[in-house]
Amino acid sequence: MAEVGTIGVKPIKVKATEVRAIEVKTIAVIGAGTMGRGIAHAAALGGYRTIIEDLLPGALRSAETEIRANLDKAVELGKVTASDADSAFGRLEYAESVEEAAREADLVIEAVPEEMESKIEIFTLLDKICRPTTMLASNTSSLSVTEIASVTYRARKCVGMHFFNPVHKMKLLEVVRALETDDDTLATAVEVGKRMRKEVIVIKESPGFITSRINAMIGNEAFYMLQEGIASAADIDKALKLGLNHPMGPFELVDLVGLDTRLSILEYLHKSLGDKYRPAPLLVQYVKAGRLGRKSGRGVYEYPEVSAVKQNLSS
Ligand SMILES: NC(=O)c1ccc[n+]([C@@H]2O[C@H](COP(=O)([O-])OP(=O)(O)OC[C@H]3O[C@@H](n4cnc5c(N)ncnc54)[C@H](O)[C@@H]3O)[C@@H](O)[C@H]2O)c1
Repeated sequence: MAEVGTIGVKPIKVKATEVRAIEVKTIAVIGAGTMGRGIAHAAALGGYRTIIEDLLPGALRSAETEIRANLDKAVELGKVTASDADSAFGRLEYAESVEEAAREADLVIEAVPEEMESKIEIFTLLDKICRPTTMLASNTSSLSVTEIASVTYRARKCVGMHFFNPVHKMKLLEVVRALETDDDTLATAVEVGKRMRKEVIVIKESPGFITSRINAMIGNEAFYMLQEGIASAADIDKALKLGLNHPMGPFELVDLVGLDTRLSILEYLHKSLGDKYRPAPLLVQYVKAGRLGRKSGRGVYEYPEVSAVKQNLSS
């Protein structure tokens, strides 16, 4: 028997002869934002031909620069050899449309913003243009992969692959089994995750999976505390780092994740799991003000270096 993961107390076991990880050579990544560029980095380093696409050409350019810088840093730290870094960089391709990116892919990983409409739009298009054998994965942090997959004629080939930020450093991959995901697709997602050097856990679909559900709760509570004036953002971060041994404070983390992404997750969890996930009004206000975190130059904290780069790019 092969074990492809564990759900609850029961390992998911299927007869080895029945499970076949499908060979993946080419991966397309749709969306080159915070996550898409990291997923592309890890896929290329895992030996896959990796084609990345974004609506905004500027996002592709900055993804290329950031991936190069992160690979160079990994070489400097002795984590990757210079030749592996160069080979990985050479395996990356940049496409001008979803069609161009996905038509030769064996696996497409979608990393567009956390909105059901956007995911459904992309999956509908992918289902039309991809080969019938192509698997479709979503990097959604919270949404129902079953619902996303339902717009396709290949629900059994759809799966959740939830990576963590920054992808090139974070070890975990949550592989999410949706209602119709078949064993081969699940086994393939696990195999690809391992080749991307991740520790893989398999979970049954549920809003926010494991990590987003717990993390959204902590992060939201931190915003309520800030709003109530209980302590400064820096002290709330310090309390969780030094008192609870979290590697990052909740505000440092939300600035990295993106306040808009966190708000979308909370809105979905609020709708599906109830009032305890109601987004803190202060978080909503920050997003309205355009304070989205590191990526916009300002979130809970300020990032003058990012603002300066953005100004240079637009001038
Ligand atoms: N940010 C995190 O820490 C984190 C962690 C795990 C998972 N996720 C999930 O990853 C997904 C992406 O999040 P992100 O933080 O990278 O968002 P982001 O806003 O940083 O990037 C999204 C990118 O998608 C592009 N895009 C939008 N619509 C598109 C389309 N139709 N076709 C192609 N590209 C399109 C945007 O231009 C942007 O570059 C979300 O589902 C999010 O929940 C995020």
